[in-house]
Amino acid sequence: MKDKISNILEDVKKFNAENLDQLEAFRIKYLSKKGIVTGLFSDFKNVAPEQRKEMGQLMNGLKNAVQEKIISLKEGLEKTTESVNKPDLTLPAEATLGSRHPLSIVRNEIIDIFACIGFTVSEGPEIEDDFHNFSALNFPADHPARDMQDTFFIEKDPDIALRTHTSSVQVRVMENTTPPIRTISPGRVFRNEAISARAHCIFHQVEGLYVDTDVSFADLKQTLYYFAKELFGEKTKTRFRPSYFPFTEPSAEMDISCNICGGSGCNICKYSGWVEILGCGMVDPNVLDSCGIDSDKYTGFAFGMGIERITMLKYQINDLRLFFENDVRFLNQFKSTI
Ligand code: PHE
Repeated sequence: MKDKISNILEDVKKFNAENLDQLEAFRIKYLSKKGIVTGLFSDFKNVAPEQRKEMGQLMNGLKNAVQEKIISLKEGLEKTTESVNKPDLTLPAEATLGSRHPLSIVRNEIIDIFACIGFTVSEGPEIEDDFHNFSALNFPADHPARDMQDTFFIEKDPDIALRTHTSSVQVRVMENTTPPIRTISPGRVFRNEAISARAHCIFHQVEGLYVDTDVSFADLKQTLYYFAKELFGEKTKTRFRPSYFPFTEPSAEMDISCNICGGSGCNICKYSGWVEILGCGMVDPNVLDSCGIDSDKYTGFAFGMGIERITMLKYQINDLRLFFENDVRFLNQFKSTI
C-alpha cells in the first residue's frame, strides 16, 4: 500500500493540464466518489492497526498534494485565458482608412474644373478689416451686412470682423497683381445666422475673378456654362436672372436645371425645376479703382458660390448641419480620389 501511494504521488506531481477540461478530468480521477484517493480512504479500514498512523499521514499527504496541484494549475490556466480575452494594448492600432469630407471633395472638384481654364487658387485671412471685406467692394456705409446682426465683429473702430465672403481675398489679389487676373478663392466664411437645416453661421465659398482688357458678360456666361456642365453633367441647363450686389454691375444669379428631378419639379427645387447655385456679375469700376486697377483700361467678371449648397445638390443631402457634425456614418459614404 505504501508503494501504491508513492506511485500515485509521483503521477500527481508529474501531471500537467493544458486546459480547464483536462484539470477537471484530473479532479474526477482522484477526488470524485469513485476516484483513486477516495478509494484509498475507503480501503483504510483494512489497514492493520499498527500501520494506521503512518498510512493515514501518507494518505492525507496524497490528498493534499492532489488538492494543491488542482489549485495551482487552475490559477495558471485562468490567468492565461484572462489574457487571451483581454485586449492587448501593446498591439498596433487597427488600420481604418479615413475618407475625405464631402465639402473637400466638391471644393477640389471645383478647383480642378477652373484650373483647366487657367484659374489659379488664392487664399487670404479669415479675420478681415473693413476695407477688404466691405469698403473696397463698394458696400455703402449703411449697408445691412455691416450690421452686427449679420456680421461677427471682433473690434469696432476700426472695424475688424470675420470675413463674410471670400471676395475679400480677391480685393487682396487685385491690390497686388497687374491684370490679367484669373483666380478663384475657396475658403471659410462667417455670418451671424441661426443654425438650421438650410443655414449655418460658418460655411464655405468659392469665389472667382477674371480681370483683363475686354472681358465681357459673354465671357462670364461662357465660363459659368462650362463650369455647370463639368460639375453637374452635360445635360445641365442654366439660366441667368438679374440680381444686385454692391460690387458688380450688372449682377445676376445663375440657376441650373434641378439635378434631382431633371427639371420636372420636386421639393428640392420647390417644384420650379430650377435651383440657384451662384451670384455673379461684371466687377463694378469703383471696385477696380479702389484696388488700384485702372477701370478705363480693364474690365472683369466675378462670381461666388456656397460649397455646402453645391454639395447638397450634388449628393442630395437635405440637412446642412450634417457637414459639421462629423458623424462617421455620414462621412464614410464619401470616397474620393481627389
Ligand atoms: N460675394 C457674394 C456672396 O457672398 C457672391 C458674389 C461674388 C456675387 C461675386 C457676385 C459676384 O454672396
